[in-house]
Amino acid sequence: MNTQSRRQFLKQAPVGAIIAVIAGRALAADAGKDKSTIENLTATLEARANGEARYAAFAKKADEEGYTQVGSLFRASAKAEKINREDLEKVLKKLGATPKVTAQAPEVKSTKDNLAAALKLVNEEHDDKLPDAISKARSEKNKEALRAFNYCKNSQTEQVTLFEDAGANLEKWKGGTKVIYVCEVCGLTVLALPDEKCPSCLEPIAKFVKVS
Ligand SMILES: [Fe+2]
Repeated sequence: MNTQSRRQFLKQAPVGAIIAVIAGRALAADAGKDKSTIENLTATLEARANGEARYAAFAKKADEEGYTQVGSLFRASAKAEKINREDLEKVLKKLGATPKVTAQAPEVKSTKDNLAAALKLVNEEHDDKLPDAISKARSEKNKEALRAFNYCKNSQTEQVTLFEDAGANLEKWKGGTKVIYVCEVCGLTVLALPDEKCPSCLEPIAKFVKVS
C-alpha cells in the first residue's frame, strides 16, 4: 500500500476492509510464523517499549534542531507506543506470562537520519513481523493477542506516511507544531479525526487525544 492509498484507506475504509487487508498480508506471511504467540507478544512489547524511549529522544533532538513539527510527530508516536505497550503487558499477564523488556539505549543522530531509522523499523514491523504474529495468533485462535497485534499494526499505518512525508520534505516541518491525534485505546495515530468512531478499535472519537 503506497503513501496516498494508506491515508485514503484510513479515512474511508470500513473496519471490515481493514481486517481483510490485514488478513491478506497475514496469509502471505505464513512462512515466517515460527514463534509462539507468547514469544511474539514479548518481542512486540520490547519493540514498543524501546520505540517509546527512542521516539522521546528523537523528539528532543528534533526540537533542538528546529524541526519542531517533527518533534510533535515523534511525541505522538511515543504516546502510541506507550498505549500499545501497556495493552501488550495486560495481554501477557492474562496469558500467565511475565512481561519482560530489555531496554536499549536509543541511538540518536540527526533528525533526517532519525526519521529514516524510524521509517525502517516501522516498515519492518508493519509489513513483516506483525503480519507473522497476527497469522500465528489467528491459527492459535488467541483473540486477545490477535486484537493487540492488530492495534499495533493499525497504529503504525499513518505513522509510516507521516515519517515518509517528514523525511522527504524536512524543511516544511521546521517551526511551529503539528497537531496529531492518538487513540488512547488502540494507539491509532492520525492527522485528521475520523468522523465518528476510531476505525481500528471502534471506540468513539472522544477517545482520541491531541498531541503537539
Ligand atoms: Fe482506537
